[in-house]
Amino acid sequence: MRGKILIVCIAIYCLLAVFLGASAENKADGMDKMKMQMMENMKKVMSMKPEQMQVYIMKLQKESLERGKKLFEHPGPTGISCSSCHPKGGTTGGMMEMMPGMRVPIPTLAGASASFPKFKIPSNAVISLEQMHNNCLMMMNKTEPLILGSQEAADLAAYVSSFSNGKTVEIGAHNEMKMDGMKK
Ligand code: HEC
Repeated sequence: MRGKILIVCIAIYCLLAVFLGASAENKADGMDKMKMQMMENMKKVMSMKPEQMQVYIMKLQKESLERGKKLFEHPGPTGISCSSCHPKGGTTGGMMEMMPGMRVPIPTLAGASASFPKFKIPSNAVISLEQMHNNCLMMMNKTEPLILGSQEAADLAAYVSSFSNGKTVEIGAHNEMKMDGMKK
């Protein structure tokens, strides 16, 4: 009996060792690939003349902003887009019912990105702009969130950040919530 238990324990130990070893290797593999890609990207611009490099960078930035604008204006499966409430980065004004009995004002996005990261009540945490977009996607657009760190999430953040051009960075600003349905 004891012998059997010992064999089972050794087997579990071996499986665990193999599994942990493999996942550590995968992690290292993933990091190597990311580092290789970064070096490839650097190499690509090193072969360019300075003016060419500038054009290249500006082109990629412009493309990201354009994709972000499309995402912002594109009505998802629910027919609601970011523009439905924040047209051209402004606000339709008025209040939005987040849940029965709780209405919050729809804010303008001018200067909004310059106030992140900041605390948000539904998340009960200090969150990034990308995370805020996912809150709106789920609560307001009533659709799926974007994968954080994905190209799409970065494109949307780039576009929304463009509404903060020329604004003062003030982390945590615009957070005085005036909700309907609060205790007086
Ligand atoms: C149905 C209306 C509605 C839609 C659609 C909507 N939002 Fe919002 N948005 C709000 C309301 C209401 C708030 C305030 C809630 C809060 O701050 O927690 C807000 C807050 C924000 C904020 C934070 C502003 C600040 O100063 O703190 C950002 C950024 C934002 N929305 C971006 C977006 C983006 C990007 C989309 C599309 C993916 C979107 N919103 C879709 C209503 C909407």
